[in-house]
Amino acid sequence: MSVTVTFIDPRGHAVATTCEAGDNLLRVGQAAGLPLEGTCEGQMACSTCHVIVAAEWFDTLPPAAEEEEDMLDFAAGARRTSRLACQIEVTAALDGLTVSIPGESHDARRM
Ligand code: FES
Repeated sequence: MSVTVTFIDPRGHAVATTCEAGDNLLRVGQAAGLPLEGTCEGQMACSTCHVIVAAEWFDTLPPAAEEEEDMLDFAAGARRTSRLACQIEVTAALDGLTVSIPGESHDARRM
């Protein structure tokens, strides 16, 4: 089943993406050309995949593991609904999800 996820880029532009259940949110964002560096490729060692989940969607996501919470403590611009995109598997229940990439985000691949 296709799932629509909208990313709000650091400039405030909405980018709608279509992906499949089972896809990884970091990979979906990267495939859409969004500035999500993902340096550690999902090892929870960098927080460069930090996204802010729209408040109304936050409770739909499975809760973050303690290691993820620890990494988010280091993420620039972290908020209450922050998550690491690399830890989010897209599911059918997330159809319509909206996440923002914080303005503080910095993608070294683009320098
Ligand atoms: Fe490094 Fe997500 S890619 S923590």
